[in-house]
Amino acid sequence: MSTNDIRVTRLGDHLGGEIADLDVQRIGGDIPLEAVKALLFEYQLLCFRDQNLTAQELLDFTRLFGDPDPHILQQFALPGFPDIVVLSNIVEDGRPLGNRKEGFGWHTDLTYMARPAAYTILYGLEVPPDGGDTLFASTYKAYDTLDDDEKARLRPLKGRYSYLKLYESRNNKTPLTAEQRARTPDVAHPLVRVHPETGRQGMYLNLDDCIGVEGDDTVDGKALVSRLFDYTVENFQYRHKWRVRDLLIWDNRGALHTATPYDMERHRRLIYRTSVRGEVPIGAD
Ligand code: SIN
Repeated sequence: MSTNDIRVTRLGDHLGGEIADLDVQRIGGDIPLEAVKALLFEYQLLCFRDQNLTAQELLDFTRLFGDPDPHILQQFALPGFPDIVVLSNIVEDGRPLGNRKEGFGWHTDLTYMARPAAYTILYGLEVPPDGGDTLFASTYKAYDTLDDDEKARLRPLKGRYSYLKLYESRNNKTPLTAEQRARTPDVAHPLVRVHPETGRQGMYLNLDDCIGVEGDDTVDGKALVSRLFDYTVENFQYRHKWRVRDLLIWDNRGALHTATPYDMERHRRLIYRTSVRGEVPIGAD
């Protein structure tokens, strides 16, 4: 079995592939992981339809791609599963099942970590009939369109990221604990990142936790990141309209994403999320 034997339908002009008839529990068995990873690198985002997974099976799928990274905010983990974050507006017996605010606003995952997420996996257990889509945008495709001078200007630069800044911007009431602070010192990552497996170069950007850019004192770093960010999301986007039991996996090294609003009073949304820890980002210079 090779990549040619897996039927993929393109989802968006810039990224995204749908695999309609493959049970992900076969991956690593009769479906080689390498074939699926090759498709993931080609499409950046894969959607496996109609998956029937327990929480443990979701975790087993995640582990095929590397070590799961438990989120800093453990209050939103699925009970008994510290590596699974619950995103939901559902309240049962007075207890919120998950985080209803998470994921809104364009971002790539965990830039504030020294080893940010390589992959993110979302599993849609309940999805609203309208709204609640997830948007994606390719920073690879955006980078490919920059002229050589601009690419050369970006290559030596690093974005600086702060989890504290992100946390405080969200009006969180409880201060981070000493342990949470210790896990999240400020970090700097190359603005042009090289994929460790394919060698592909692309922009690696985040805005909400960005506290500046290092490498060129003449550059207004925040303005630069903001401009590149806007260019990417305006021009290289795909909108994922969820179906129940969609399993999405994407490569964060070259993609941004955001949740979109839905009527939280009328509709239920329940998504499980896992993250796979990536490498220390590799620069192009
Ligand atoms: C996320 O950004 O982690 C979640 C996106 C979504 O809920 O659509």
